[in-house]
Amino acid sequence: MAQKEKFVYRFDEGGKEMVDLLGGKGAGLAEMTKIGLNVPPGFTITTKACIAFLKNGGFPDGMMDQVMQALHDLEQKVGRSFGDEKNPLLVSVRSGAPVSMPGMMDTVLNVGLNDRTVEGLAFMTDNRRFAMDAYRRLIQMFGEIVYGLPHEEFRERIEELKAKEHYDEDRFTVQDLQWLIDQYHTIYKKYGKSFPQDPQTQLVESIKSVFNSWNSKRAVAYRKMNGIRDDMGTAVSIVAMVFGNMGDDSATGVAFTRDPNTGEKKVFAEYLTNAQGEDVVAGIRTPKYIDDMKNEMPQVYSDLMKTCDILEHHYRDMQDIEFTVERGKLYLLQTRTGKRSARAAIRIALDLVDEGIISEEEALMRITPSTFDRIMHPQVKVTGKETPLGKGLAASPGAASGMIVFSSERALEIGKTKKMILVRPETTADDVRGMAVCEGFLTQKGGMTSHAAVVARAMGKPAVVGVEAMSVNVNDRTVTIGNRVFKEGDVVTIDGTSGFFYEGELPVEKPTIDEYSSRLLKIADRYRRLGVRANANTPEEAKLARENGAEGIGLARTERMFLGNDRIGIMRSMIMSETTEERKKYLDQLLPMQVHDFVEFFRTMEGYPVIIRLLDPPLHEFLPNKEDILRQIYDINSGKGNREDLPYLERLLKTVRDLEEFNPMLGFRGCRVGLVYPEIYDMQVRAIIEAAVKVIEEGRTIYPEIMIPLVGHHNELKKIRARLEETAKSVKNHEKVKYKFGTMIEIPRACVTAHKIAEYADFFSFGTNDLTQMTFGYSRDDAEGKFMFFYLENGILESDPFSSVDRDGVGELMKIAVERGKRTKPDLEVGICGEQGGDPDTIEFCDEIGLDYVSASPHRIPVARLAAARSNIAREKPEMTQTAKY
Ligand SMILES: Nc1ncnc2c1ncn2[C@@H]1O[C@H](COP(=O)(O)OP(=O)(O)OP(=O)(O)O)[C@@H](O)[C@H]1O
Ligand SMILES: [Mg+2]
Repeated sequence: MAQKEKFVYRFDEGGKEMVDLLGGKGAGLAEMTKIGLNVPPGFTITTKACIAFLKNGGFPDGMMDQVMQALHDLEQKVGRSFGDEKNPLLVSVRSGAPVSMPGMMDTVLNVGLNDRTVEGLAFMTDNRRFAMDAYRRLIQMFGEIVYGLPHEEFRERIEELKAKEHYDEDRFTVQDLQWLIDQYHTIYKKYGKSFPQDPQTQLVESIKSVFNSWNSKRAVAYRKMNGIRDDMGTAVSIVAMVFGNMGDDSATGVAFTRDPNTGEKKVFAEYLTNAQGEDVVAGIRTPKYIDDMKNEMPQVYSDLMKTCDILEHHYRDMQDIEFTVERGKLYLLQTRTGKRSARAAIRIALDLVDEGIISEEEALMRITPSTFDRIMHPQVKVTGKETPLGKGLAASPGAASGMIVFSSERALEIGKTKKMILVRPETTADDVRGMAVCEGFLTQKGGMTSHAAVVARAMGKPAVVGVEAMSVNVNDRTVTIGNRVFKEGDVVTIDGTSGFFYEGELPVEKPTIDEYSSRLLKIADRYRRLGVRANANTPEEAKLARENGAEGIGLARTERMFLGNDRIGIMRSMIMSETTEERKKYLDQLLPMQVHDFVEFFRTMEGYPVIIRLLDPPLHEFLPNKEDILRQIYDINSGKGNREDLPYLERLLKTVRDLEEFNPMLGFRGCRVGLVYPEIYDMQVRAIIEAAVKVIEEGRTIYPEIMIPLVGHHNELKKIRARLEETAKSVKNHEKVKYKFGTMIEIPRACVTAHKIAEYADFFSFGTNDLTQMTFGYSRDDAEGKFMFFYLENGILESDPFSSVDRDGVGELMKIAVERGKRTKPDLEVGICGEQGGDPDTIEFCDEIGLDYVSASPHRIPVARLAAARSNIAREKPEMTQTAKY
């Protein structure tokens, strides 16, 4: 006989390595059982059974037999029987996928209760109120989950009762609960259903609907958004019920072993006394904090602290735990690696290093560049003059402004055309798609572990939750705060870092790097091989780059320097000059200005290389556009304006016309201008050397590098270099300056002939923007404006080659260039400048092909430092890539 497939594992048969089969929840329950924590007994039906069920529309052969056998074992263990009228066993039927999808799928509690077993439960516990409460919960959950009856209808009856009796639901009496149960039955009736009295039917239907919840709309949407595969299925864990609703010595709660918002090493827990599981997450009552527990239930408190410690050491990371206290005894119902804010992720990783639990490399591998990016999120610029509208819990850091919307459907309708803040009483899993198009969230109810808070942290968006002083009316789309009423479209600003929120749009400021991030980056610096430089066009940017840890400037564009008010006129005169002599005259006027610019750069980057690129754009970019000139001429001719300006304007117009090009990207620019009008580069090189002499004479060490753009043929570089070396030599005291001379590699031909070009270059710097344009034959603006979106939508391109390097095409050319260039000159310095230098994926590629450095814009420097370290670790220790990532 063929061996039957095992579809069911008791908790004492599984372990944490079986996540794929048992799901995260099942594997966690098994693991906790294994290490001796107090978990109620139970078993897990595998994800394979789920996959088979979804495929065939029925349970796989033998599965139900195994379930019944395991249920039997469970009965033995707890000494109660499923469906027994005197001493009934109750179970929960819980979803749990291999990848955490918090709250996205279904769970049914208290399965096994009916009109008769509820009497047994009442008798057995000597607590009728409790038994009735458990029963009404089952009827509600079963109705909602298995039959899809509307949650609001059940909720309305509870609210009605609360309003009538003037107390909260944890105080409902037996009579109240009986009334509620009767009401619930009428809801069933209204939808043509009835609650099944047979416990076995309850179990089977619950298992089916948990399996089916894998394909629920919200679960599918969540997977799509988080790039989770659709074919894994969910496991189902059947767990003996323990009760947090047995009175004031009972409770239910969730705990994070560290603060998920700040990362502080301090257990962060929220709980409700006399309540059952789902109450905390649903944000129905506002929960109590861990410090209350210290006083209320000291023994439980200390057990919980011990448990948190055991779990953290065991899993080597911060855990998110669900627990229930039944008559003073602590039970663990779930553990998983806790979601956390970006800031917390960094702090926790570093603290774990200090506690000897993980290595520095592991800490670096846990923090993804995108997490790091998030802490560079904007903050509200508080001057002290603004009055906040209110304050809630600072549930997810960052700041955002936007118009108020009151439902996620509405948010989806409006779409990304407007910045929106979703304002809700509370959010549920159904809101996730709408939340994705909003800037941030503001909720009236719920705590730090409420749905809105958890989702916000995962999405990296700001959230302020639990604003009790605010009253949201979803039906007439208003929110009342104090005596003010706001409606859809009104603009608010929320600050998820402080918990305050404000009327209108407040200015936000860039955050500074805090002590933990800066420490993480210093560690990163020790693990990276790649250098990190900055693209800086002004001395201010150079300064910022230094503060962010740049080790030099990889690209200083000189053209921006000519755009200043004091210079643009001279620049235009230079361009309009008809003779070399005339051109030189204007260049002489620009010279001291350039010297001044370069002096500032060199001073700021003392001790580090500074690559200055000579003039690159086509000359017409410095001239006004033709329409403007024509209009001015027209105005003068029709009597407006000053006639004396006419000759100048006509000359300007002629120059603009002369310089007009069919395709400026491929036109008269870069070294081509430098060759035709060599006096321009002469002036720039003289300025560089003069500035360098001056700064060296101040006693500073500097490393100037002169870079020629757009070289495609080695003769271009040969000729320019020969002339510029002469120019350099003409500067007084030039021999004090040690400079390098090199070129951008941004034309495919330059890559292929790199061995020849390297004869005249001390360094190469890849200009991936132009290289991508010319390799694909796209002009970037046209591509992005007209067809890139279509290409990406239709899978013609997998990703935008302008944001991450195209490894197969552009990347190959880069490899060829490095290899051939170094063949000629083994110590050739090679780097990359341009936007892609700050992209983590591109950085990894640059590391792989052996570049010396990457150069990125100043605000990307921190991310580049981290990405460079991670790339190096991943190459040297591939096993490190397995670590959890945040
Ligand atoms: N056997 C049980 N006894 C007491 N409470 C339980 C039991 N099983 C589940 N619960 C509680 O019921 C609630 C819902 O359970 P469950 O963990 O399955 O789903 P969830 O927390 O809503 O979603 P997920 O954990 O998948 O993100 C939780 O608070 C859980 O602690
Ligand atoms: Mg749970």
